[in-house]
Amino acid sequence: MTTRFPTTRLRRLRYHATLRDMLAETHLTRNDFIAPLFVREGEGVRREIASMPGQYQLSVDTAMETVRRWADVGLRAVLLFGIPDRKDEAGSEAWNDAAAVQRLAGEIKAQRPEVLVVTDVCLCEYTSHGHCGTLVERPGGARDVDNDATLESLARTAVSHARRGADVVAPSAMMDGQIAAIRQALDAEGLATTAILSYAVKFASGMYGPFRDAAESPPSFGDRRTYQMDYRSAGQAFREAEADLAEGADLLMVKPAATYLDIIAAVKRQFPVPLAAYHVSGEYAAIKAAARLGWLDERAAALEITHAIKRAGADLIITYFAEDLAGWIEG
Ligand code: PBG
Ligand code: ZN
Repeated sequence: MTTRFPTTRLRRLRYHATLRDMLAETHLTRNDFIAPLFVREGEGVRREIASMPGQYQLSVDTAMETVRRWADVGLRAVLLFGIPDRKDEAGSEAWNDAAAVQRLAGEIKAQRPEVLVVTDVCLCEYTSHGHCGTLVERPGGARDVDNDATLESLARTAVSHARRGADVVAPSAMMDGQIAAIRQALDAEGLATTAILSYAVKFASGMYGPFRDAAESPPSFGDRRTYQMDYRSAGQAFREAEADLAEGADLLMVKPAATYLDIIAAVKRQFPVPLAAYHVSGEYAAIKAAARLGWLDERAAALEITHAIKRAGADLIITYFAEDLAGWIEG
């Protein structure tokens, strides 16, 4: 067995910076990151999101400039969110082939085909009520999202994105059966090569607040707790992941990330499939705000948390720090 102090001194492994580097077990690379991007209708739009400094609502043209800049610093993948001009009960702009997300996906394919295009497939940005699907009255009178009616809208949206060039569709609505519905629809349209990154393990979180400003998607009544998971319970994570894999998910996601490292580690141990983790808007905003107040060092905090997410088991990290990280990591 190992010896004890003073024969053993663990600090000997830490004295030289080079040895620390050589012994590091977790390495971030530009292949790890997926950068979220908010695209809206219009031209020349570049609106900073107040609660997410450094993040913008962009139109297709300015978004393309951003994608080119990101590709030039070595980023490989983007995650597109759309903000429509017109919202309705069903969220029908989501599957409009000429909407901003679809046009941007096509532009990226045309100008920077090496960039992997991932699209968020949900309806909350597109519905007038801000919920992630079509509404129905449940027994007793409460209005809630109609699971099965929403599946068709999600499938149409995924097909529309894939047709215009999305390489990976990422359904985030947390409807039961959404992966099967999307896989079936893609295959029926000859889109068998489009991959599905499932937001399989998505918790109802207080950390999505800034995103809902960015995407203009807060629910107009109630909350999302009848479809997103309860953070007090970890067990359902396995059932969600298992169900989505059985339905044909190619990659899984855990979201949020930094406060769910236990879930990331457990899901990765249980399922030998590629795992993404989403370091969400509130996690980003908290670091930004504290850094602005001079209360912590932004770069040190972002690097530490991103390493922790990878160390926990994430193969891919969706992060608003992607561009900064590309500059901060070595290589
Ligand atoms: C849409 C969606 C949300 C996020 C990603 N996709 C918001 C929500 O569920 O309310 C959150 C991302 C973030 O906070 O950065 N369903
Ligand atoms: Zn949604």
